[in-house]
Amino acid sequence: MESDLVRLKFETLRWTKGKLRLIDQRKLPQQFVYFDCDDHKKVAYAIKNLVVRGAPAIGVAAGYGMALAAKEYRDLKGESFFKKLKRASETLASTRPTAVNLFWALKRQEKLIESNLAETPSEIFKLLLQEALQIHEEDRQMCRAIGENGNKLIPKRATILTHCNAGALATGGIGTALGVIYTAVSKGKEVKVFADETRPVLQGARLTAWELRRQGIDTTLICDNMAGSLLASGAIDLVIVGADRIAKNLDFANKIGTYPLAVLANHHKVPLYVAAPSSTFDQSIPNGSKIVIEERDKSEVLQSGKGKINVRGLKVYNPAFDVTPASLVSAIITEKGIIP
Ligand code: MRU
Repeated sequence: MESDLVRLKFETLRWTKGKLRLIDQRKLPQQFVYFDCDDHKKVAYAIKNLVVRGAPAIGVAAGYGMALAAKEYRDLKGESFFKKLKRASETLASTRPTAVNLFWALKRQEKLIESNLAETPSEIFKLLLQEALQIHEEDRQMCRAIGENGNKLIPKRATILTHCNAGALATGGIGTALGVIYTAVSKGKEVKVFADETRPVLQGARLTAWELRRQGIDTTLICDNMAGSLLASGAIDLVIVGADRIAKNLDFANKIGTYPLAVLANHHKVPLYVAAPSSTFDQSIPNGSKIVIEERDKSEVLQSGKGKINVRGLKVYNPAFDVTPASLVSAIITEKGIIP
């Protein structure tokens, strides 16, 4: 799996031997292990529990989840088969609410089912699998094109700040924000990356740091609260992040902490770029205020290093995403081009 010039050293998702094989991202960087899904409920579990995460990767996984559901129920007849598929789609849709790519992929599979109601369950399985492979391939190509388009915004020498993980681990290809970085480096540009650790789940420290170093990129890890003084120092040429959902007016949701980073970047006149495929755009939502923000378990915030914060009566607020208004964005990089 690679673009013309970018060679990836790992594969986040792969359909192999009738199963969906995922890198278990909960275990990185300490352990590199796979998590195999042989039914749709395991795919739903994997999405909900962050075995696989990142908006495009969630969409790709859900596409395969529907193929697995058809495989599981292929001995059923007509109506009961289609009822089970509908249930499976609902189960997958209930895993995480913010990334629109999940619903986009499920809708594609639902449409395919609806236009093939006369087919046998085995035939539907084949069609759903083909479509899942196609969704995966399209995601690879979109990442590649985002990389090429985004590269045009990267100077010959650049120090870039990123937040969360919008890399190969978050997509079916080379990544969106990190795909731009890989492409720029593959074309001979000198790129240094600062990665925000991204509390509370540490996608920056655990995943971005791991994949950038695995790909040989000059990477420095910072705590989230270090971004302000770093930007003030003038060390950062540009900020680039991914997105989980982009509303019609181009407000976007991304990992919690993106909004304050955008405010800081704006204050210091450092451009902020968002890299995302068309599957992340949601035209049905007029602006960012309508994006559903996932709230996750308090244990994520209470985990501190190896210990747990244990204070009686303490309340915890743990939104997984925030919304950044379009006015703070310099440009959105998509596979089709650059939206200023
Ligand atoms: O909770 P996560 O890890 O799924 O959140 C991921 C992000 O916020 C990414 O930045 C986003 O999905 C873009 S991935 C190309």
